[in-house]
Amino acid sequence: MNISIDYNNSGLNQTDFEEISNLINKAHEKLLSKENYYTGWLDYPNTFDDSMLEEILSKARTCQSKCSAFVVVGIGGSYLGTKACYEMLKSTFKQRIQDTLPKIYFAGYSLSSMYHQDLIEEIKNEEICICVISKSGKTMEVDIAFSLLKELLIHKYENTYNEHIYVITENNDSPLNKELQENNYDYIYMPKEIGGRYSVLTAVGLFPLSVIGINIEDIIKGSQAAWRAFKDNSMENQCCQYAAARHLLYKQNKTMEIFAIFEPKLHFFCHWLIQLFGESEGKDQKGIFPTYQAYTTDLHAMGQFIQEGHPMFFETFLSITNKEQDLIVSDLAQDIAKNKSLNMINTLSLEGTMLAHTDAKVPNIRINIPELSPFYFGYLVYFFMKSCAISAYAFDVNPFNQPGVESYKKHIKNLLTTNE
Ligand code: PA5
Repeated sequence: MNISIDYNNSGLNQTDFEEISNLINKAHEKLLSKENYYTGWLDYPNTFDDSMLEEILSKARTCQSKCSAFVVVGIGGSYLGTKACYEMLKSTFKQRIQDTLPKIYFAGYSLSSMYHQDLIEEIKNEEICICVISKSGKTMEVDIAFSLLKELLIHKYENTYNEHIYVITENNDSPLNKELQENNYDYIYMPKEIGGRYSVLTAVGLFPLSVIGINIEDIIKGSQAAWRAFKDNSMENQCCQYAAARHLLYKQNKTMEIFAIFEPKLHFFCHWLIQLFGESEGKDQKGIFPTYQAYTTDLHAMGQFIQEGHPMFFETFLSITNKEQDLIVSDLAQDIAKNKSLNMINTLSLEGTMLAHTDAKVPNIRINIPELSPFYFGYLVYFFMKSCAISAYAFDVNPFNQPGVESYKKHIKNLLTTNE
């Protein structure tokens, strides 16, 4: 079963899609031509072989045997995919995916001393491994968190501290790469031609996910199925259709896309989506601002604005078809919900919200995801990466750079230098 996408409430019709097909097919062609350097992710699922898998799995097994607390140190594309997959697939209140495998923690994505102090306090009596993930090897947030955790490792393991450090980075001349060579850290190099936010299907996501016990072979299979499904350059391709719908809605001044979820396990998947679309598309005063709403709770917070405020939104509902667990609402509830399946109530709430927002002239798209599983994680990630790159090319911007991010880094550096 594949994902299906419903455009019935988008206000768009066949003619609209036909009219934009030229622009979208050209954008897709541009992506397929690989004229931009960072398109290595495009065929990566198809080139992923047994030796790459075995390298990741064997390092993951060794790491599992050394620790009970496993800390991923990274920011942006270097951690969001892992976090998204972990949150999607774990049991809501458990920290571990499998009881006998390490707990995962994340660091290096903020500059909060409270957060990092609490983290160190939490893990200091555990057996620890850390995995530093940074393509550039010189990101300040990552460097700071790494230094704090390294101090803890040195204190705890003395001369053998380096056996508790894994690094995933590019083979470049960065300080991190130099350090890993000098100190014999275990490492996996990132493919040069894949950028951060397109890297979750490489060791960047697959190594940490494998350490905590997520079936990465299924993730790869899902991405391979998506690679096959979305190869052709035609408007039959769901990536082209979705990119087309977004572009058409933007032309109608719908400049914000809300990813709407009814399942809390998708919170971080939405964060990953926001980074993917935001950083890829928001350039040259163009692009759709991506955000997300967690319903039904946000219907009690932002529902009013979405319904009646400034009409700048369209919504993309992420709907899960088959859910593993269900509850029957007890007799103690009020009549309307009594004895009904909670999954059914949740799905009908999604449909009711779509209808209400359609009435309010908020166009919406529904993406039906067969289930939450490693396979569909891989499938969805590939679907969205490809749709996003096509969409960015349709805006005539480069999906794979982020020149605007450099400016805040420069200002922080200047302020740090003047405050020495
Ligand atoms: O998508 C991107 O390229 C960025 O979000 C990076 O992943 C992020 O800035 C972290 O960079 P690095 O991996 O070099 O530390």
